[in-house]
Amino acid sequence: MSFVNKFVNELDIALKTLSNKKPGTPREYPVTEFNPNLTDEEKKLSAKLMRINLAGEVAAQALYRGQALVCKDDEIKEHLISAGEEETDHLIWCKKRLDELDGKPSILNPIWYAGSFAIGTIFGSMGEKTSLGFVEETEKQVVKHLEKHLSKISENDVETIEILKTMRADEDEHAQEASLNGSEELSEPTKKFMSATAKIMTSSSAHI
Ligand SMILES: [Fe+2]
Ligand SMILES: [Fe+2]
Repeated sequence: MSFVNKFVNELDIALKTLSNKKPGTPREYPVTEFNPNLTDEEKKLSAKLMRINLAGEVAAQALYRGQALVCKDDEIKEHLISAGEEETDHLIWCKKRLDELDGKPSILNPIWYAGSFAIGTIFGSMGEKTSLGFVEETEKQVVKHLEKHLSKISENDVETIEILKTMRADEDEHAQEASLNGSEELSEPTKKFMSATAKIMTSSSAHI
């Protein structure tokens, strides 16, 4: 594919992602239990958390696309793309749940997509081992973040809990796959920079 074709293709994927029109994998919505009796407070808290998670999934999507775009190893590129497809599932689930909770997505999502895509291409250009190291560290940080959300959420919100638990299992798998594919551990300052960036994103997405 020529550069222009690749660019147009990525733009198309970005727009589909942001308008929630990108199809994910054939997996089902991971909710089997429903609780229609949540209080307004419980719904408000869950909506706030799902709004943050939706922003995170937008970013995850863009990181994987950016990394895959510049990846020179065909096998690893395939892996990045298919992990990214699972992030699309997460995105679809978070959006569906957010709608059910009467929440609104953050208006900053397009900015997170663009910024994360750029960060993905930067780490992707540092070679396959570093790129996979970046995936592994990102996913580990996401698992910790999801655990924090699971401890905050009302235990009555069984639907959101099921979604977050399924996502946590996927993210954990993404980290392990990156490690199996030969990831290299990132430096401590890089890890700190990543978690600081994530914090800016999560705290602003909660409100804006
Ligand atoms: Fe995800
Ligand atoms: Fe992931």
